[in-house]
Amino acid sequence: MTSTSPQAAPWWRQAVVYQVYPRSFADADGDGLGDLRGVTSRVPHLAELGVDAVWLSPFYPSALSDGGYDVDDHRDVDPRLGTLADFDEMTEALHAAGIRVVVDIVPNHTSDRHPWFREALASPRGSAARGRYVFRDGRDGPAGPMSEPPSSWKSLFGGSAWEPVGDGQWYLHAFAKEQPDLEWSDREVREDFLTTLRFWADRGVDGFRVDVAHGLVRDVDSNLHVELPSTHTALFDDGSHPLWDRDDLMEVYREWRQLFDTYDPPRAAVAEASVHPSRRWRYSDPSSLGQAFTFDLFEAGWDAAQLRRGVELGLEQLDVGASCTWTLANHDCVRAASRYGLPPDPELSSHVAAKAWVTRDGAAPVLDRALGLRRARAGLMLELALPGSTYLYQGEELGLHEVADLPAPVLQDPIAFRSEGAEKGRDGCRVPLPWTPDGSSFGFGPDGGRDPHLPQPAWFAGAAVSVQEADPGSTLHLHRAALERRRGLLGPEELAWEEGPDGVLHWSRPAGRGGRWHCVVNVGGADGSGASVPLPAGELVLTSGPLDDAGHLPPSTTAWVVSG
Ligand code: BGC
Repeated sequence: MTSTSPQAAPWWRQAVVYQVYPRSFADADGDGLGDLRGVTSRVPHLAELGVDAVWLSPFYPSALSDGGYDVDDHRDVDPRLGTLADFDEMTEALHAAGIRVVVDIVPNHTSDRHPWFREALASPRGSAARGRYVFRDGRDGPAGPMSEPPSSWKSLFGGSAWEPVGDGQWYLHAFAKEQPDLEWSDREVREDFLTTLRFWADRGVDGFRVDVAHGLVRDVDSNLHVELPSTHTALFDDGSHPLWDRDDLMEVYREWRQLFDTYDPPRAAVAEASVHPSRRWRYSDPSSLGQAFTFDLFEAGWDAAQLRRGVELGLEQLDVGASCTWTLANHDCVRAASRYGLPPDPELSSHVAAKAWVTRDGAAPVLDRALGLRRARAGLMLELALPGSTYLYQGEELGLHEVADLPAPVLQDPIAFRSEGAEKGRDGCRVPLPWTPDGSSFGFGPDGGRDPHLPQPAWFAGAAVSVQEADPGSTLHLHRAALERRRGLLGPEELAWEEGPDGVLHWSRPAGRGGRWHCVVNVGGADGSGASVPLPAGELVLTSGPLDDAGHLPPSTTAWVVSG
């Protein structure tokens, strides 16, 4: 395991990055959709939280067929979310507060309203305009009745991955039909994304989160006869998948890295690449994007063996000189407090079981809200104590649960429509944040403004920022304390496992201020039961919940101790 001293390392190697989902963060103009001026107005909240950077999910012009990941124009702001001037003002305010700015780049596809796609539809088969996307004739050829798509491949959101355009041709879309896949062997496509990256880097953006970074390059023609499983098909370890994680893709990111390195400081990038763990380094290598998300911890249930495995897989990044990334939540998954409050399902991984629970409107099994929150708090301190960067998702600082009972008519996620009821989708973690216990949208927008674009449940009142401000034991205060103390403890990126009883994770790492920083997670039993455990000798820095009367660490609780 290599080790880099935090002083010598680039800022992003051990940053805490806060994900803003702009439509649902803060609504300054009262139209029911969050906006960039809303983000600017909440910079004090982010500064007080103590995050190093903000990653903004897409805020580009979009029909919002996939929450903004269907981009009409990569170099502009959706008029409902603001203007480029608002973006500059937000960036300036964040920078003034010492917070860096990361934007989402969506290179695998455009929206179907993008000028290129409109041009492709208006152009004949074989045209350069169609060549920017993946158009193919139906299975029965150009003159056929168009009854059969070119292959049996399924979209990740459900249904066929091909959509007919009425002249015998079909286009490929790995996600919704409003998200046609781009053809990355087309030089114009490559150049255009380089222009986009420069556009934002020149505006002062510090880094990029690369959406579906393992897509882009495909080998369609020699594989049309191949049946592909409909679920996420990325866990191949040999690069043989026709659609994901192809070797040629690495050239694209080498070119991006060259561009990032022309800036001072070099621009950062993190890949969202759902690939086999043994192949993550191809994205996180310094000659490539530099960092890649690892989702193993997030996929683990609240179980000591699973959590340890998640940590070990994430730590493999250190072996290749990359920094590790940790996350327990994002805009695509059931909120951690709810995942951890559901009984384990022997048939399903914890996050798949949680998605199934949402599809049942949260009706069964019964969510243990208090246990889930206790574990989410312990999980926060677990991830923050690991070497590398932690990516937090908006609302985690409030310990928010999933809004599992959104009624069908308000759902927006294409997964809900395309899966024909098999999945309810991701809207339950995208409900606008509560800032105050009252007001027509709990302070998300101005009082009397339009209803928020997804309805907020009554219980949001008790979780609101201003309510938690007033409660020193709140999850908001825990986040602030954990981020502040972590900053004082950060040291080299290394970790040594320590002996601990069953059901306990215990590691230590050098603390930047001297001594060793111990993290002890008493995971406890599946139902939350278990014995308290003694802590290592040293200065108790922080716990995620109260110790017992004997000063021992109860189950579902994490402690940080610095030993001399
Ligand atoms: C994003 C999703 C989005 C998909 C398609 C993802 O990985 O995180 O929210 O639906 O890419 O762009």
